[in-house]
Amino acid sequence: MMKALLCKDFGPVENLVWEDIPDPTPKDGEVVVDIKVAALNFPDNLIVQGLYQFKPNFPFSPGSEGAGVISAIGKNVHNFQIGEKVSFMCGWGAFAEKLAINHKQLIKMTEGMTFELASATQIAYGTSYHALIQRGRLNQDHEILILGCSGGVGLAALDIAKAHNVRVVAGVSTEEKADLCKQYGADEVVVYGSDKLDKESQKDLSNKLKEKSKKGAFDIIYDTVGDCYTEPALRSINWKGRYLVIGFAAGEIPKIPLNLALLKGCEIVGVFWGAFTGHEPKQNMNNIIEIGKMISSKKLNPFISKKLPMKSATDAIKMIGERKVLGKVILINE
Ligand SMILES: NC(=O)c1ccc[n+]([C@@H]2O[C@H](COP(=O)([O-])OP(=O)(O)OC[C@H]3O[C@@H](n4cnc5c(N)ncnc54)[C@H](OP(=O)(O)O)[C@@H]3O)[C@@H](O)[C@H]2O)c1
Repeated sequence: MMKALLCKDFGPVENLVWEDIPDPTPKDGEVVVDIKVAALNFPDNLIVQGLYQFKPNFPFSPGSEGAGVISAIGKNVHNFQIGEKVSFMCGWGAFAEKLAINHKQLIKMTEGMTFELASATQIAYGTSYHALIQRGRLNQDHEILILGCSGGVGLAALDIAKAHNVRVVAGVSTEEKADLCKQYGADEVVVYGSDKLDKESQKDLSNKLKEKSKKGAFDIIYDTVGDCYTEPALRSINWKGRYLVIGFAAGEIPKIPLNLALLKGCEIVGVFWGAFTGHEPKQNMNNIIEIGKMISSKKLNPFISKKLPMKSATDAIKMIGERKVLGKVILINE
């Protein structure tokens, strides 16, 4: 038997239970991974409430990425061995002691990589690297605004941008989050608060953002929050800037007057990292290798703010809804 965090019906996060279930056995093409570490991500809070695009059969475990050791191998798996260290992305199932997973979803861990870093950097750094490098076409002369900068993907974007020596303005909801971003390398911060912004407050925010930019406008805007923050941010974009649509953590998917794109000559660029990994696996693998190298050489320095035992995954998921996640939160099987 093994333990797993189980969602038995869509509902509040408090309904999740940490229970014994039978060990998984690998089907054709699968391996079983003994999970050492799993990382928390924004969709973990949505999927258990039935608010996410994927709705797994019950019971299921949330948790979309992790790292561990292969303990069993099914038929037709030739390139992995028992005892090998791997990281994986799975959509759901990582908040457990073991997971049966297709071998195509595994990445071999390189020498020197830890379970903690391997699990914490796949989605956050994978997304932010793809967003800034391929979709944003980042260059050294750029100035960037990152909204939701202290969260998982936001802080990864800050780390990657600073590794490329560009000026970054961080947008966050609280002073505590602003302090973290400054310590982490942000050149300037703007605190936009946690309340919904009316038209007047949106104008104020737009002016504040422009004031914090050295050029008076941003070449790239990396938006993880959406809602009432998007339009004021878009109004602060530079001529021919690129607005990277990453997520809508603040709730609403904003409806933007398209004349803003015309007036600014700017690009509004969608970023969907999960789909990118399927459509462009080679480019994704190149990105993963580059991120790994940059972490090993300390050009990138992922920030893990909290380490909790796996059985406390419910507490970790609650932090997302309470807007309390800083950098990456990881869950450890002790
Ligand atoms: N497009 C893609 O391929 C892709 C890939 C990964 C993630 N994402 C998306 O990126 C966003 C951030 O993901 P993450 O894993 O970095 O999450 P996270 O670590 O929980 O960070 C979320 C950030 O959103 C901000 N936020 C604003 N309103 C919020 C609210 N009502 N509740 C919670 N947070 C709120 C928070 O910053 P402030 O309090 O400072 O506003 C927080 O730092 C999510 O929307 C996620 O779905 C997209």
